[in-house]
Amino acid sequence: MKTIYRQFFLCFIALKVWWYFMQEERRVRLGFYHNAKFRSRDLALKKAYRFNNPYRMNKVFLRRMGCQEVDTYGETPLTTLYAIAKECGITSQDHFVDLGCGRGRGTFFLNDYFGCTATGVEWNPQFVAKAEKVAAADPYNAPAFICADMLSADLSKASVIYLFGTCLPDPIIEKLIASFASLPRSTKIITVSFPLSDYSEAFQEVKEFTGSFPWGEGSIFLNQKI
Ligand SMILES: C[S@@+](CC[C@H](N)C(=O)[O-])C[C@H]1O[C@@H](n2cnc3c(N)ncnc32)[C@H](O)[C@@H]1O
Repeated sequence: MKTIYRQFFLCFIALKVWWYFMQEERRVRLGFYHNAKFRSRDLALKKAYRFNNPYRMNKVFLRRMGCQEVDTYGETPLTTLYAIAKECGITSQDHFVDLGCGRGRGTFFLNDYFGCTATGVEWNPQFVAKAEKVAAADPYNAPAFICADMLSADLSKASVIYLFGTCLPDPIIEKLIASFASLPRSTKIITVSFPLSDYSEAFQEVKEFTGSFPWGEGSIFLNQKI
């Protein structure tokens, strides 16, 4: 009996997530596809993943890397990223760096829709190769993608850093924060799930707000150096 309930529950969750993604895609098409550059790159990115599920791809990659936790992939819904950009005052003058950019959908969005320059840093080479291919098809004002560990990323040009690192282990977050030491005070660091002040007294929480994610409402923090 317990197993039947469990199966029903899993089906219910799967349906809920599917409905969430359908609604999100509808909002993306209606809200953002009037921007021709974004529409064209987003459709190209979707085509690149037509037969490749990024969640599965990342699972395989993490298994190969010997990681214990392999179900850690997730993407910030673009409607949430739009709200984040508005809340944090991201403009076309900014240079946006997505630390752990996944397949780069958000990096393309910030670059194309908000008109800022953008760089995606990602250690999964398959994600980077596909994103670079999409960018290379129309290289004018395209974002850059770097295949690297985020701990060694060059952040010197960043005015905004985005870290959706909900599943990152504490020692990595601490190392990352140490690498933020040389950043100017003006750099905006946006984190999901935790503020940097939980880990270091050198940072203050400028703003906290919530945003919609497939798993529910998430806390989003705008952090700056003190
Ligand atoms: C939760 S996903 C976020 C994707 C994207 N930033 C978004 O918000 O839609 C985290 C990504 O970070 C990448 N990642 C995790 N640790 C990393 C590291 N040390 N260096 C580079 N990328 C990393 C993972 O491969 C994954 O694609």
